[in-house]
Amino acid sequence: MSGIVIAGAGQAGCHAAASLREAGYAGPVTLVGEEPYGPYQRPPLSKAYLAGKTDAAGLALRADAFFSEHAIALRLGTRVSAIDRAGRAVVLGDGERLPYDHLVLALGARNRPLPVPGAELAGIRQLRGLADADALKEALSGAARVAVVGAGFIGLEFAAVAAARGLDVAVVEAASRPMARAVSAETGEFFRAAHESAGIRFLFGAGVAAFEGRDGRVSALRLADGSALPADLVVVGIGVLPNAELAAEAGLAVGDGIRVDAMLATDDPAVSAIGDGARFPSPFAAGLSADGTVRIESVQNAIDQGRCLAARLTGRPAAYTALPWFWSDQGRHKLQIAGLGGPNDASVIRGSGEAFSVFRFREGVLRAVESVNQAGDHMIARRLIAAGTPLSPEQAADPSLDLKALVLRPR
Ligand code: APR
Repeated sequence: MSGIVIAGAGQAGCHAAASLREAGYAGPVTLVGEEPYGPYQRPPLSKAYLAGKTDAAGLALRADAFFSEHAIALRLGTRVSAIDRAGRAVVLGDGERLPYDHLVLALGARNRPLPVPGAELAGIRQLRGLADADALKEALSGAARVAVVGAGFIGLEFAAVAAARGLDVAVVEAASRPMARAVSAETGEFFRAAHESAGIRFLFGAGVAAFEGRDGRVSALRLADGSALPADLVVVGIGVLPNAELAAEAGLAVGDGIRVDAMLATDDPAVSAIGDGARFPSPFAAGLSADGTVRIESVQNAIDQGRCLAARLTGRPAAYTALPWFWSDQGRHKLQIAGLGGPNDASVIRGSGEAFSVFRFREGVLRAVESVNQAGDHMIARRLIAAGTPLSPEQAADPSLDLKALVLRPR
């Protein structure tokens, strides 16, 4: 028996391995990870870890002993370089073959590069892994003028940490508002104002034409409009690309992610894909994509897909239907999102000032709720959306309506 090989030791891979044991799988489990250390949490890298509020040990997803105690073979510092589907084996970087009965692709995503002249200059960084965060932490201590490219989650979380250290921070964003990919104009506007009041400057509708440098180090960004933005440290956070190449080379279907069915299986029954790199049909994707599939970059998705897959591989198959949810900490503000919003959703606001939620409706149906410093709303929203509890925009707009009662006693 070859057992289950999990390629990728991030949150999805780690939870798949742990869930297999929890579900009673007794065969061999091998977790192959490219990074030299055991599975760890990434979200704090752009928040508490960067701010020095937690150390590397505090990031570990499981104690070292967990893996040996659960007979999970950890192959760290090891890259999968090919999948031999006919031979039911993965080929590792050094040519070793690891046979499998079932292969789980939990390969995640990588940062999208910004290929403009000068991109190789020292002082231009991205943030994805622990090594990136360590390098960035060190760079921050010598920096004065910071430029962030991309006002997404990574860019804004990093900008908030840098501004809190008293650094001069400017954010260059291609779109006309922050986090346009993921949140409503209302939530974006709140965070724009909040970051500006912390001293962060935004340049919207702006592009980077080139990086300029002195002695091999970045000194400025040359923007598309010809102007120069001086900077001695640049962080590029312009989204991610799914790691789907291995799957494509092995002849599996890909297209902005590795294509899987509702059970998270690829078109090869011996291969599944989970986490940031997988594109799957979701009941929460109505009106978002032509074919009803999504690819979700979140801890929740990684964990729940690992669990769903482990259930199938231990004889309890079920479609993946977990509600998507997400969070981002930016300065002193907490953003929590339940469900999947779309660019044309109608917004209804409950609350005001620094504590409110944006209820987002698509074709009259509640599809997502963005809560800003409103953890209670977020928890209720998760239950409302997951259960499909009917709620009209008019009801959502009524401040006297008790949402909690709706959850407890659906209408
Ligand atoms: N110049 C400026 N801005 C750009 C450019 C560009 N060339 N290309 C893209 N952008 C902007 C997008 O408009 C968007 O606002 O960069 C932002 C990227 O935001 P996200 O898609 O949220 O990606 P990122 O912040 O890199 O986060 C990547 O990490 O925190 C996790 O799960 C989270 O999915 C997220 C992932």
